[in-house]
Amino acid sequence: MQRHIAVTSKLPGRAVAMLEEAHAVRVHAGDPITDEDRLIGFVGEADAVLTLLQNPVTDRVLAACPRLRVVGNCAVGFDNVDLVSARRRGIWVTNTPDVLTEATADLTWALILAVTRRLGEGERLLRGGGFHGWALEMLLGSAIQGRQLGVVGFGRIGRAVARRAAAFGMTVAYTDTAELTAPDPPAMFLTLDELLATSHVVSLHAPLDDATRHLLDERRLRLMPKGSFVVNTARGPLIDEAALVRVLADRHLGGAGLDVFEREPEVHPGLLERDDVVLLPHIGSATVETRAAMAELAAANILAVLAGREPPTPVVRP
Ligand code: GLV
Repeated sequence: MQRHIAVTSKLPGRAVAMLEEAHAVRVHAGDPITDEDRLIGFVGEADAVLTLLQNPVTDRVLAACPRLRVVGNCAVGFDNVDLVSARRRGIWVTNTPDVLTEATADLTWALILAVTRRLGEGERLLRGGGFHGWALEMLLGSAIQGRQLGVVGFGRIGRAVARRAAAFGMTVAYTDTAELTAPDPPAMFLTLDELLATSHVVSLHAPLDDATRHLLDERRLRLMPKGSFVVNTARGPLIDEAALVRVLADRHLGGAGLDVFEREPEVHPGLLERDDVVLLPHIGSATVETRAAMAELAAANILAVLAGREPPTPVVRP
């Protein structure tokens, strides 16, 4: 039976065509929908919604859209969706894991290399006319070989980042909610505080929830060795951004590589002015291939629920 599907953004790949084969589809074309009222107005009486990570799928939204049976989030993260409310209301929630793992791990390494080797600074110097020839002591970075990469959150993306560490001669320690019996790739389990105190580079790969908000607060940032680096390609609020600015200002850390921010699209002004910070506009999974695969997986999830089947990648199974 034909259902109504609201899609909150234009999508790459075949995703919209897949949905249109069986259902009536409305696609939002304007600015991203970042507030509840616009989301309610757009979804209305739809049976399914395909959302992006900036769409706030709150309890109020779910209550105001009474026909919704499935929220197909086109992201691996789902902190924009009220899962408790969805479960209570009998609504499926799905996400898009796996298809973005390698792209996000690659981007994480791009940031690790960019911040430790001062790539942003170098490019700004050159474009600003400041390159007057090779110099022995120009833009010296920090070697990573033989040093420890600390991975916070040893899920799919954390492990893919850890796998790449061998190619750069880094040892890997990880922390997670529990120690794994056979971590793959092999890595040493440490508590978060131990990991922070011993790593040259710390990379965040934990989901955002009440337990991980401001996971790296000022106390924890100051546990990191002087001159070490923090990289975040997960969710901005994992780091207390104001505390990070203070710790960088003291030159305690060597730098930070950030693809995500506490209040996107705003970036803390104290970060924007620093040369030891590499900033990217949340592009962890942004390859043509990956974004199409994400959109198609989100569509496949919705189609499965509307056909009465188990979706490929459920988060909430009502
Ligand atoms: C991107 O941040 C995602 O969660 O997919």
